[in-house]
Amino acid sequence: MNIEREVKRLLLENRRETDGHQYTVPSGDHYPYQWLWDSCFHAIILAKFEPVAARAELTALLSKQFENGMIPHIIYWRPGILHMFQWGVEGTSTLTQPPMIAYAALEVHKHDPDVSFLHSIYPALVAYYHYLERERDPHSHHLASIINPDESGEDNSPRFDVPLGVSPTISLHEHLAKRVELIDKNRECNFDAQHCMRDFFWVKDVLFNTILVENLRALSTIASLVQNAEDERLFKEDAEFIATAMRTRMFENGVYYSTMGPEFKKLKVETWAHFSPLFAGLYTPDEAKAVVENHMKNPDTFAGTYGVRTTSKREQAYRPHSENFSWRGATWMAEHWFIYHGLMRYGMVKEAEEIRAKSVRLLEKSGFSECFNPETGEGFGAHNFTWGSLVLDMIKK
Ligand code: GLC
Repeated sequence: MNIEREVKRLLLENRRETDGHQYTVPSGDHYPYQWLWDSCFHAIILAKFEPVAARAELTALLSKQFENGMIPHIIYWRPGILHMFQWGVEGTSTLTQPPMIAYAALEVHKHDPDVSFLHSIYPALVAYYHYLERERDPHSHHLASIINPDESGEDNSPRFDVPLGVSPTISLHEHLAKRVELIDKNRECNFDAQHCMRDFFWVKDVLFNTILVENLRALSTIASLVQNAEDERLFKEDAEFIATAMRTRMFENGVYYSTMGPEFKKLKVETWAHFSPLFAGLYTPDEAKAVVENHMKNPDTFAGTYGVRTTSKREQAYRPHSENFSWRGATWMAEHWFIYHGLMRYGMVKEAEEIRAKSVRLLEKSGFSECFNPETGEGFGAHNFTWGSLVLDMIKK
C-alpha cells in the first residue's frame, strides 16, 4: 500500500466546504461533521503537503468559538443531517475536546512559516486556553476538568465508568444514553462550571491535562513568534503548574490516574492513559522505562499482537472485538500516534519504531478503519476514517 498516496486521496475525499469554510470530516458516512481534535490531526498531516488546506481547517474550527472562549467539539456545518450527535445548540455541540489546537497550529507553522496566520488566530487561541484555565479550573488547582466522557476524546473509556455511574459491562447504547443525559443536566444548569456542572461529572483526566501541558508550551512558542514576551512567559509557566499538579494529584505506583470530584479521588482503571504522559515528558526517564516495560510491553495487560490495547486485558470492561466497545480495548491510530511521540521523546526509538510498524501493518491489513482489534488486526467502526493518516507523522521531529 502506498500510504502517502492513500492518505492524500482520503483527505481530499473527506474534504467539505460550507459557508465559505473548508474542513475535513473524519468519515463521510459515519461522522459527517467537523470534530475538534480530528481537525487538529488533519492539520498536522495536511501541513506536510497542503499547508493552505491545513490553515483553512484550523480557521474553520475556530470560526464557531463561543463568547466565553470555548471551542465546540463538533460543528454541524450542515444542519439537515443531524442525528444522535445533536448535542448542542445552534449548529455546534456544547462540549469541547482535547485541546490540540495550539500544537497543530505550531506544526503547520513549522512546515510553512506564516506569522501573519499566527497573528490572525492568536486571540482565539488565547481565549480558548484561558477558558479552560478559568472555567474548568475555577479554584486554581492547575488541572482542567472535563464535564463529559466525550470531552476526553475517548467516549466510552472505562476510566469514566465510576463518575458516570455505570457498570463495566454496560452496553454501548446505555452508555450513550447516560452521556446524553449528562448534557441535558448541564444544559439545565446553563453550563455553570463552578456551581452546577461539577455536581454531575467533574473529572481531571490524564490525557486531557497531558495534552493541555504540551499545548500550553506550543502556545508559549506561538506567543514568542507573535512577539508577545509576557504571554510567552505566562503560558510556559502555566504548563509547568499543570505538570506539577498532575504529579501531586494523579501519580501513584508509577502511573498517572485520572481523578474525580473535589477530593481528587483516583479512578484506578488500567487504560492506555498510563502512557499518555510520555507525550509531554511527565515521567522521569526511569519511570518512563518502567511504565513501558511493565505495562506497554506486557501481553497480559496492554500488548496486543497488532497494537496497544486502549484498556488492559485484565479489566472487566475489556472488549477488543466489537465496535460497540470501541475505547474499551480496541487500538486507535491517535493512541498509537501519542505513544509514538512519547517514546521518541524519551529516546526509545526501537519501541517507537515498533508502534509505527504495527500501525502500518494495521492499515495494510484492514484499511482506514476507525479502530482495530488488537488481537487479530481486524478493523471495525467507521470506514474511510482519517486517523490512519497519522502514520505519516510517525517520524522523528
Ligand atoms: C469518535 C471518537 C472521537 C472522535 C469522533 C470523530 O466518537 O471517540 O474521539 O473525535 O469519533 O472521529
